[in-house]
Amino acid sequence: MSALVARVSPRDFSLEELEILEKAAQLIEQGGTVVFPTETVYGLGANGLSPLGAEKIYKAKGRPSDNPLIVHISDYEMLELIATNISAEARVLMDKFWPGPLTLIFDKKEIVPEATTGGLSTVAVRMPSHLVALELIKRAGVPIAAPSANVSGRPSITASEYALREMADRVDMILLSEDCEIGLESTVCDMTGEIPIVLRPGKISQREIFQTLATSPEALENYYEKLNRHLKVLEGKVSEDGIVGPKSPGMKYRHYSPEAKVLIANSGKGLAMLKDVVSKAKAEELKGDSSFVRVFCLAKEASIYGEWAEIIGETLEEAGRNIFTRLRKMDDQGVKVIICETLEGETPSEMDLAKAIMNRLIKAASNK
Ligand code: TXA
Ligand code: MG
Repeated sequence: MSALVARVSPRDFSLEELEILEKAAQLIEQGGTVVFPTETVYGLGANGLSPLGAEKIYKAKGRPSDNPLIVHISDYEMLELIATNISAEARVLMDKFWPGPLTLIFDKKEIVPEATTGGLSTVAVRMPSHLVALELIKRAGVPIAAPSANVSGRPSITASEYALREMADRVDMILLSEDCEIGLESTVCDMTGEIPIVLRPGKISQREIFQTLATSPEALENYYEKLNRHLKVLEGKVSEDGIVGPKSPGMKYRHYSPEAKVLIANSGKGLAMLKDVVSKAKAEELKGDSSFVRVFCLAKEASIYGEWAEIIGETLEEAGRNIFTRLRKMDDQGVKVIICETLEGETPSEMDLAKAIMNRLIKAASNK
């Protein structure tokens, strides 16, 4: 099987582009799979109300079927169709962050098949801001279930080149667009508990969520108190109901791995780690050229690493946008070891973003 492939730019759609979108929407309606761009990463979509759609997604990704999917919507009617017990807090967050890179977890309605939610009674919902994604969902007329469009365990895809290479033999159609603007998957926030809890960090942080909701300094403090209590429970320091398992099932799987081995250097340890890797490689008579190891760093640190530096951006925002494509590029270039400097920020929002990027790199590193 080879997928239909078409390019659509996320601006005023031409007639031809509208036809392409209509074709893709029909495929979704008829039970097919379509790779499409979003502002975060490419998604691998199918009808979110059909168990068969979910099955096809799991098969195309090679993903275990107990890993729940995010259901993408284009309007609030679709939200009411699939989710229930939507709190006032959730409404505030949706007002501020939708359409955009925030996924909210709600109790699901009957209409959402358990195949889509990995057997859970909750559903993850997101309204993307990418115009191609929105138009596709609108035309399909059904919510679209879509995980990131990578083969399970591989880095997510943020550039059309990789969407094409990795997915052409796995789906019915691929919609290509410009590189994904944010480059990190959406923030996943659980709305079913006492307070909103971020399960997967992204561009929007726990801090920003609390700040949006708190109406006074006391209210903000109260949120953090509850969060700390919750985190203590997770650490097992306080046991409320015995065993504490991973709340976001996706967290337990192999993630983001390129072929290269990924190492994380603690702050200030990058150079020592690099020297160690290089000297070991020489001892083992591995290739002596500089291409087998690269150090991921921001532009301002590049001079420390000389020919080994791999600049992932001038700013953290750029680094976030580039990170997945860069991991994949290293494989294309035959790089064997990637050392990642621990990214840090100065302002609170930079620190949040640094944390979101490091979350992906640490997972990539823990797999080998
Ligand atoms: O930006 C994104 O979120 C992209 C684009 C395509 O929208 N999608 C994405 O999907 O990253 P995926 O499947 O790669 O990640 C979904 C995450 C997983 O960690 C999964 O465990 C979690 O969301 N998740 C989904 N439904 C959940 C639920 N009901 N409860 C808890 N976690 C859930
Ligand atoms: Mg993923």
